[in-house]
Amino acid sequence: MTNHARTSCALGIDVGGSGIKGAVVDLSTGEFVGGQITIETPQPATPEAVADTIAEIARRAQWTGPVGVALPSVIKGQVALTAANVDPAWVGTNAHEVLARRLDTSEISVLNDADAAGLAEVAFGGAQIRDGAVIFLTFGTGIGSAFFIDGRLFPNTELGHMTVGCAEAEHQASSAVKDREQLSFEQWAGRVDTVVREFDRLFNPALFVVGGGISEDADSWVPLLTVETPVVAAKLRNRAGIVGAAMAAAEHLNP
Ligand code: BGC
Repeated sequence: MTNHARTSCALGIDVGGSGIKGAVVDLSTGEFVGGQITIETPQPATPEAVADTIAEIARRAQWTGPVGVALPSVIKGQVALTAANVDPAWVGTNAHEVLARRLDTSEISVLNDADAAGLAEVAFGGAQIRDGAVIFLTFGTGIGSAFFIDGRLFPNTELGHMTVGCAEAEHQASSAVKDREQLSFEQWAGRVDTVVREFDRLFNPALFVVGGGISEDADSWVPLLTVETPVVAAKLRNRAGIVGAAMAAAEHLNP
């Protein structure tokens, strides 16, 4: 990559339970430069094993510039405080340090995956998310959340772990639960409605934006929700985590 390309691009990495996905992102458009590289998540997904995989993605992308990494963890001062769908050894790990030992750069930012996806939606998605109090939700293996006020992030909210009725929200209504229990969209939308109505009752946002892989099928379930606050599908769909991670690296974000 030329120096010019490096200043306007960053490598974004999204760490998931089954795959680690990365792409160099053009930060002026949110588009990928070259293709997406996906490597199966190593098992166990310890900090060292995940960092090795991220280094391999950087090598394959021939990338030595800024790197942003989205993790399914609460991240404070670059330290992971929780670990969902990755090895518990992440808890208490300084993710920046582990990555800096393996990458050819110290320009590294680590942040929560839903926060990353939400930031990407603010930058490149629909205009509504930039206006007022908005809750962004991702439905995947878990349920991720990101709170925005006029497009500014309040990081590390964890609504997926809120107890709704007698179980955690993500144990009832993630898209992994839909697959596991072979729920129809109608059945699953009923579960999503229950948790989103509870989020609405407690946080009263002006809008919910829903993302994650299942937002590709938004027409099959978003219209079934009865929560009064409007719910719209995210525009970036599955690319959002990668794009938001790349943005965080370029902006030296340090949640
Ligand atoms: C994790 C969150 C994450 C979400 C989506 C939850 O289980 O606790 O940190 O954002 O899953 O991956």
